[in-house]
Amino acid sequence: MQKEKNRTSLIPSSKIHIVGKGAIGLLLSHYLTKNTSNSVSLCLRGNQKETTFNYQNNTLIEQIALTHSEKNNESIHFLIIPTKSYDVLTAFLSIKDRLTNNAVIILCHNGMGTIEQIKPHLIENQSLFFLTTTMGAYKPKPNHVIHTGFGTSTLGPINQPAINNRKMIFKALSNCIPQMVLSRNIKQLLWRKLMINIAINPLSAIYNVKNGALNQPRFALEVFQLLHEAYLVAQNEGIDISFSKTLNLAYAVMSTTAKNYSSMNRDHNLGKLTEISAISGYIVELAKQYNIETPYNKYVLLKLL
Ligand code: PAF
Repeated sequence: MQKEKNRTSLIPSSKIHIVGKGAIGLLLSHYLTKNTSNSVSLCLRGNQKETTFNYQNNTLIEQIALTHSEKNNESIHFLIIPTKSYDVLTAFLSIKDRLTNNAVIILCHNGMGTIEQIKPHLIENQSLFFLTTTMGAYKPKPNHVIHTGFGTSTLGPINQPAINNRKMIFKALSNCIPQMVLSRNIKQLLWRKLMINIAINPLSAIYNVKNGALNQPRFALEVFQLLHEAYLVAQNEGIDISFSKTLNLAYAVMSTTAKNYSSMNRDHNLGKLTEISAISGYIVELAKQYNIETPYNKYVLLKLL
């Protein structure tokens, strides 16, 4: 079959499975299918109804070219899990038996702790990657995603098969997803993302403000202290990270996503479980091992649990 002009295919099978119907998963589905020959199938939980989904940005509204995965019998070669951190393991285990021997699995969420949960379940040639993104999106309705912030997305290989495949997978994803970066240092990538989330998400939820409002002087002490506590833990963990650069990066993300409400703000407002345990909770727990005091992270953890 002749390919249409400008059409790209992600991987030989070009069939991508995405778990759930969260805002970031729908955003990725939009990019992975728009002007490409890829097909994206959503894997929904048994009780979730099949429906159509729309993507909206400043200039357009259009239907996302998605299909729904035929439950249980279709094998999966390329899987993206963009669920909340606390849902990753359950989502993975519900699909694990359908993964091919050399499947590519990409985790994409805020917070830490899931890599350790997933790794023991992988077989030899399955590749595990992490994708972080500063693109912002929210869902005003269950089947409608609004793209509010344009930012970079960084792919990092986690295990050896992923390190071997990284260039091919990166090239394929960067053909579809804007502003992609490939990271060589997965630990640093995850910590950098964690620090951005620590500086933005809890305060945006507690004070119910958009990300851009957090650059006001009245929030400066809390932003600084939350980040500094995390930085001290990172140093003890042997992470090569600079405090001033991380602080600058957090302020830069506040600016690029100024008009967004963070994901934690949305969850908190809707009375949903937030990812605070995998963000500030992770720092509070790890800090105990090094006798580091974390009063600011403890405070936001208790407020948002
Ligand atoms: O969680 C979020 O909302 C995002 O990770 C970020 C980068 C803080 C932007 O809003």
